[in-house]
Amino acid sequence: MTRRRVLTVLFLGAALCVALLFAVVIRETSVGGEPNGDVPLRRLAADARIDVGTAVRGPALRDYPGYRAELAREFSTVTPENAMKWDAIEPVRGRLRWTDADALVRFARANDQLVRGHTLVWHNQLPRWLTGREWSAEALGRVLRDHIRTVMGRYRGRVAEWDVLNELTADSGKGLRTSLWSDVLGEDLAPKALRWAREADPDAELYWNEIAADGLSRKSDEFYRRVKALVADGVPLDGVGFQAHFNLDGVPKGFEANLRRFADLGLDVRITELDVALEVPADDAARKAQADIYAQVARACLRVPRCAGITVWGFTDRFSWIPASQPGAGEATLLDRGLDPKPAYRAFAEALRAGSVARSTAADATPSP
Ligand code: G3I
Repeated sequence: MTRRRVLTVLFLGAALCVALLFAVVIRETSVGGEPNGDVPLRRLAADARIDVGTAVRGPALRDYPGYRAELAREFSTVTPENAMKWDAIEPVRGRLRWTDADALVRFARANDQLVRGHTLVWHNQLPRWLTGREWSAEALGRVLRDHIRTVMGRYRGRVAEWDVLNELTADSGKGLRTSLWSDVLGEDLAPKALRWAREADPDAELYWNEIAADGLSRKSDEFYRRVKALVADGVPLDGVGFQAHFNLDGVPKGFEANLRRFADLGLDVRITELDVALEVPADDAARKAQADIYAQVARACLRVPRCAGITVWGFTDRFSWIPASQPGAGEATLLDRGLDPKPAYRAFAEALRAGSVARSTAADATPSP
């Protein structure tokens, strides 16, 4: 072999190595083989002046390949799906378990993400020691106050917002949902819990997060009436969350008008648990209809100036609460089981992109004070 040939072979070999290295780096930093889009959701959302978040499942964050990279790349907000619920933190009275909650808070800090704490007053996922006995109003009030102080105190300055109240409104639209809390504490429940929360972390934003009160309905009217009364009474409340667990029935009537009427009370509003369940296995038409619903939700939020962000309830079909709780339904999230984007991802991203243009134009046109 001539010297020139040797050099050519060496050069080609080196070029091949560099190309291979490049391919590996790209594969590691994107997930599921390909990056989902040119621009991550969190960047599109930031341009549109909102947050985009997801619920995070503790075990997935621990060791599912690709999950952490995707979570860091796409989302500016994280909500623990279960790790901050009472049964997770204190399954045995006085014995506190923080492992998953701490891990998420650390992850968020490392990736410049805001944490939405979820949740302090809820009728579900309560430990047996709490539900399995009778309480006086005084004793239960003390237990709840201590819980709020302990959990919010631990994450003071690190969890920016809390769903202090979760799903308190009765589905019938008449009064409070029947639960341990409302049975024992009655009408004092919401104002007391919110005041204890404010004391526990004066800088955290305090939310009432509600389920199935997304459109205009008897239930959302009751929710609105209660929130309005709290604001009028000077009870500390900064925002209201609309969970938005949807299916192909679509976005409920009056969704945007509902967001607006709460915002008009001087509160922030957020979409806190968005997903769109399909019958499984889903076909292309269903996936397309799902994509449209994700886009409609994004557009509605972006049209309401006090809409602070959208959180999806899980970002991959591999980790979603739907199949376990609604047999025959699933495929409700933005990415498939292999973490590849679905039409819903692309439609959602596109709606954010369009919204960023509209919102920045509106902001530019607003005269400075
Ligand atoms: O903790 C036990 C574990 O010890 C056991 O080994 C395992 C075996 O199945 O179950 C574990 O509990 C499960 C828990 O999630 C934690 O993984 C429960 O069975 C399961 O029912 C529970 O589901 C959660 C559900 O809330 C409970 O109501 C979902 O993951 C979670 O996505 C869902 O989230 C709620 C929001 O917090 C509030 N809004 C509605 C939303 C959907 O229901």
